[in-house]
Amino acid sequence: MTTRNTIILAAGKGTRMKSKLYKVLHKVCGKAMVDHVLTQVEKTDMSKIVTVVGYGADEVKSTLGDRTQYALQAEQLGTGHAVLQTEPMLKDEAGTTLIVSGDTPLFRAETFEDLFAYHEAKHAAATILTSMAPDPTGYGRIVRNNIGIVEKIVEQKDANSEEQEIHEINTGVYVFDNQKLFKALHETSNDNAQGEYYLTDVIEILKHQGDIVAAYQMANFDESMGVNDRVALSAATKIMRDRINEAHMRDGVTLIDPATTYIDAGVKIGADTIIEPGVLLKGNTVIGEDCYIGAHSELRNAILADHVTVTSSLLEDSDMASGSNIGPNSHLRPESHIGPKVHLGNFVEVKKATIGEGTKVGHLTYVGNAKLGRSINVGCGVVFVNYDGKNKHETVVGDDAFIGSNSNLVAPLDVADHSFIAAGSTITDAVNRYDMAIARQRQTNKPNYYQKLPYRGED
Ligand code: UD1
Ligand code: CA
Repeated sequence: MTTRNTIILAAGKGTRMKSKLYKVLHKVCGKAMVDHVLTQVEKTDMSKIVTVVGYGADEVKSTLGDRTQYALQAEQLGTGHAVLQTEPMLKDEAGTTLIVSGDTPLFRAETFEDLFAYHEAKHAAATILTSMAPDPTGYGRIVRNNIGIVEKIVEQKDANSEEQEIHEINTGVYVFDNQKLFKALHETSNDNAQGEYYLTDVIEILKHQGDIVAAYQMANFDESMGVNDRVALSAATKIMRDRINEAHMRDGVTLIDPATTYIDAGVKIGADTIIEPGVLLKGNTVIGEDCYIGAHSELRNAILADHVTVTSSLLEDSDMASGSNIGPNSHLRPESHIGPKVHLGNFVEVKKATIGEGTKVGHLTYVGNAKLGRSINVGCGVVFVNYDGKNKHETVVGDDAFIGSNSNLVAPLDVADHSFIAAGSTITDAVNRYDMAIARQRQTNKPNYYQKLPYRGED
């Protein structure tokens, strides 16, 4: 039985990134490059997927988990050597093997399918996926003979001046007859400018033994971009961002200015949601239908139901139910659960709190470690005093309570439903149902004292 298998090369350090982070783990639109590659490979029908890991092996494994098998390349002796490390796992497979690099995040599964189809139609032993690069510097060049047949791939550092003029590049994606691949790999040497075992040398070896080598030139260079440094990382990110934005627009989302809208790969958005300029939607954010995300908002792993309005606010690891709204300039810190039709106004900070349906927290308020019921009115400048310098404590406020402006609720504290706290109170003891709690000094007025003040306005 013949099978299709994939090898993802991800063992390199990525010296040109000048980074502590291993190259293939650098993110493009919120997702590690190697994860983008694996996601596309997963869309094609593969029997085995083997990722070659070396530098940062543990980090790569924890990023990709059990979606792939792994082969360890203990020493980075080149791409050919990397592929050889999968030999014990793949050598007995009869069939075709796709090889992709972990630093080419823009490839789409459709392109891999086209490559397989071309390879099969040509009955080739190997098919190279190539593209025409506007600037081929750094890539391996495809050398063809005078009738256009592929002869070999020459690396940038090994290319003579004539070869350097070639714009057709090796994208680093290939399909091979599996058994011929491993046999030829044993014949490669490291006699080249980088002293590495090049996978690309397999092409010439197969040619010499009379096998058919084909090259399938894809239409779009952008998709084949390899990321070796931060300049390419930003170029790849821009292309990915445009692609993501276009997909959302095609699905019915309005982006007022796609050029300044930054949406991560994992984000989901419902139809008829409108997104203003300067918005960042990160991680696993999910936004329902008919939402409005105002300018300069940032949502990190936020879950919004339908009809939610966010005005210039920061939301982190929190959720907002249908019809609720927040902002401008408010902040949901992690574990905030905002109920239906809740209104959170200007300069409101919420942390680890649940807020029930219809409750209003309009202005300049901090709600931390709290459970608020339904239809509560929280006045302006209320502080949920949750921290005693050592521990965090919880405040519970019942339905229909009224918290007057400029109150401090000192936790741990229970404020019963249908109770009332007078403005300016510092509340330290439980408030019972139907109570009015007032904890402030009485006002004293000194008649005619104004006349004695150094300051006097005109009468
Ligand atoms: C490689 C190709 C080049 C092609 C380009 C496309 C070779 C010799 N060159 O060059 O023809 O135009 O990709 O982007 O194959 N890796 C390992 N182990 C190693 C070395 C590399 O796993 O020992 C991995 C890297 O992590 C990376 C991939 O292989 O994901 C490619 O390696 P890289 O050093 O980036 O090769 P390029 O110089 O880009
Ligand atoms: Ca590369």
